[in-house]
Amino acid sequence: MKSNLHSYENDLNRKILATDFYQPSTRTRFSFEAAIIKLGGSVISTENAEQFSSVAKGETLEDSIRYISCLADFIVLRNRWNDSSFRAANVSRVPVLNGGAGTAQHPTQALLDVFTIYENFGRLTNLDIGVFNDLKNSRTVQSLVHLLSDFPGNRFYFCSIPSLMLPAELEEDLSKKGVQYLKTNDLREALSKSSVAYFTRLQAEYIKDEVERKRLMEEIAENENKYCKYAITEDTIKFMPENSILLHPLPRGPEIDPRVDLDPRAKYFEQAENGLYVRMAILEILNRRNRKKP
Ligand code: NCD
Repeated sequence: MKSNLHSYENDLNRKILATDFYQPSTRTRFSFEAAIIKLGGSVISTENAEQFSSVAKGETLEDSIRYISCLADFIVLRNRWNDSSFRAANVSRVPVLNGGAGTAQHPTQALLDVFTIYENFGRLTNLDIGVFNDLKNSRTVQSLVHLLSDFPGNRFYFCSIPSLMLPAELEEDLSKKGVQYLKTNDLREALSKSSVAYFTRLQAEYIKDEVERKRLMEEIAENENKYCKYAITEDTIKFMPENSILLHPLPRGPEIDPRVDLDPRAKYFEQAENGLYVRMAILEILNRRNRKKP
């Protein structure tokens, strides 16, 4: 798709993609919408379904998906419930693409993440992957670790404060697969060992309790005093090996200082751009298989 964008221009002629988003989005929604348009199709959309669709009148997710799937050929769903895509897929007549489900999954993001890794290293095996910051609530982390742990020889360095470490189920899953990993709260240690450094922002929208939020900030500050600042800055980027890459699903928070954007290791804008090509490919593949259920 990336090297031959124009040869697919009419493949999805007159197909309709519905983007049913209950949570904010810039990259996922726009790139899916641009993808279907580039393939010759069009979009119907709600960017704030909680407020602007009949869900605001109390309609269930199932009922709204049932209806949308009469109109559209594909549905992209983003919702704060972890099981939303499964629930939607159960009642939909057309494929449901998970555009982010709660804190649990963001599979198309993981595909564009691994595409970017593959572009840079020419392989998805035997890599040292550092994953930083909010590993507990970040759905992009869950999906990426799931995916990369299926390729042989990959080693993980999970770097965060104890309260935001990887969920126990994911750790158990890694142990069962026999994947090598190390947990640390020392940014310097993890960065210097990583060929891929994957940063995330603090998923503050899932930490509603003010007391809990304050406690987390204190824990982060304590950790920073003991080790170093928990962010990529002109100082900490020096710990990254020369031929490593820095990824982030975006949007970024203070964890990546814009002053490192021009460093050749900073690949997050290319990574975001790859979202278009990967999502075009997903739609193209699905279209070849897609038979709308009666
Ligand atoms: C992510 C998401 O929504 O989970 N954004 C994205 O899709 N690129 C990451 C985030 O919000 O932190």
